[in-house]
Amino acid sequence: MRRKIVAGNWKMNGSKDLSEKLVGYVRTEAGSLDNGVEVVIIPPAIYIRDVVGQAGGAVSVGVQNVGQWQSGAYTGEISSEMAKDSGCDYVLVGHSERRQIFGETDELVAEKVALVVASGLTAIVCVGETLEERESGSAESVVESQVRQGLSAVSGAWKNVVVAYEPVWAIGTGKTATAEDAQAMHASIRTVLKEMGAPAEEISLLYGGSVKADNAAALFAEPDIDGGLIGGASLVAEEFISICRYFP
Ligand code: 13P
Repeated sequence: MRRKIVAGNWKMNGSKDLSEKLVGYVRTEAGSLDNGVEVVIIPPAIYIRDVVGQAGGAVSVGVQNVGQWQSGAYTGEISSEMAKDSGCDYVLVGHSERRQIFGETDELVAEKVALVVASGLTAIVCVGETLEERESGSAESVVESQVRQGLSAVSGAWKNVVVAYEPVWAIGTGKTATAEDAQAMHASIRTVLKEMGAPAEEISLLYGGSVKADNAAALFAEPDIDGGLIGGASLVAEEFISICRYFP
């Protein structure tokens, strides 16, 4: 059985106040979800302790990024071990904003994924094509290459891997992939994972990119979409919880 996951990536948003109020509400509501969804909140690293405290074990917590080292003289960086030590279960790796704004490459993503899985946390590895790549018909090959390279150093720890398909053109734009297009890409990712020797049927594949309460149900009804990675809508407690409820 694949894990069903709805994760809220706050990006560089939020506050101590939001960490208390939103997470308190989500924790209460998550307790009454009867569809087996695991709810994950991924706040800015500086609020992790606040969110972990509020989550009370009913909601999982993740970090948005880690450095590619275990420890040392890397001012400003945090490690996967530190995230684990602070109560995180998940680490986002290779979000398109990290790739585009901070120049993260597939090689760097692979290094980080190796450290994350070695620390026992689950890496949520983000992949997705740009609008130009989609319009030129290369979306599937771009994503295939990101999956193959980004996961090249997993070396058997597949239970610690989740893949999030987030088409870049759908992030923060209000445009979502249709449920059919998202399903087609997820099926293609699963095929690639199979070819890599991974237990593909057991790996959760999340969709991200302008997921809202009014489009979640159609996306989550698709057989290869095992959850969502939610940006903007995860900052509004009621909307985030209604997205979690849309799982069949
Ligand atoms: P939006 O839901 O705001 O489009 O962001 C998606 C995302 O990037 C989540 O990681």
